[in-house]
Amino acid sequence: MISKMMAKRLNDQLNKEFYSAYLYLSISALCGNHGFNGAANWFFIQYQEETAHALKMFRYLNDQNVDIDLRTIFAPELEDLSFLGAFEASLEHEKKMTHQLNELSGYSFQEKDHATYNFLQWYVTEQVEEEAALNQIIDQIRIVGDNGHGLLTIDKELGARIFVDPTI
Ligand code: FEO
Repeated sequence: MISKMMAKRLNDQLNKEFYSAYLYLSISALCGNHGFNGAANWFFIQYQEETAHALKMFRYLNDQNVDIDLRTIFAPELEDLSFLGAFEASLEHEKKMTHQLNELSGYSFQEKDHATYNFLQWYVTEQVEEEAALNQIIDQIRIVGDNGHGLLTIDKELGARIFVDPTI
């Protein structure tokens, strides 16, 4: 049993996770159009991960007997991002997600909703990994700068990423 406000806020977050998936799918398409097929693969897997995050929340809301409120997912507004810009924009997005999840976690604690608090700690920890992965890629791209060979080497490494559902 969770409160109406907690349910509303979790529903908000559920929709944000789906938006994140949509954002990364858009970036994947952009990377593919620019010939960065490795980055396109990396972002496609990011899309799958965000979908898994959303579905984990969906299952929790179902288990808590909450009415699930699926809303319109707006199209991400992307400029024509550079290779580096794609990862920088993603990091900025993840920082916002981290902030929102921390707020949500803090709210559940304030409400003494310990089940939801425990549930949300998975997301809080996941955000640390997400930001670390993006920071590492950004550092590597900055090191190689405009060196085409270096960028293609990084792109190749990004192409090796495979999807492992983080929620199982
Ligand atoms: Fe599910 Fe990357 O936030």
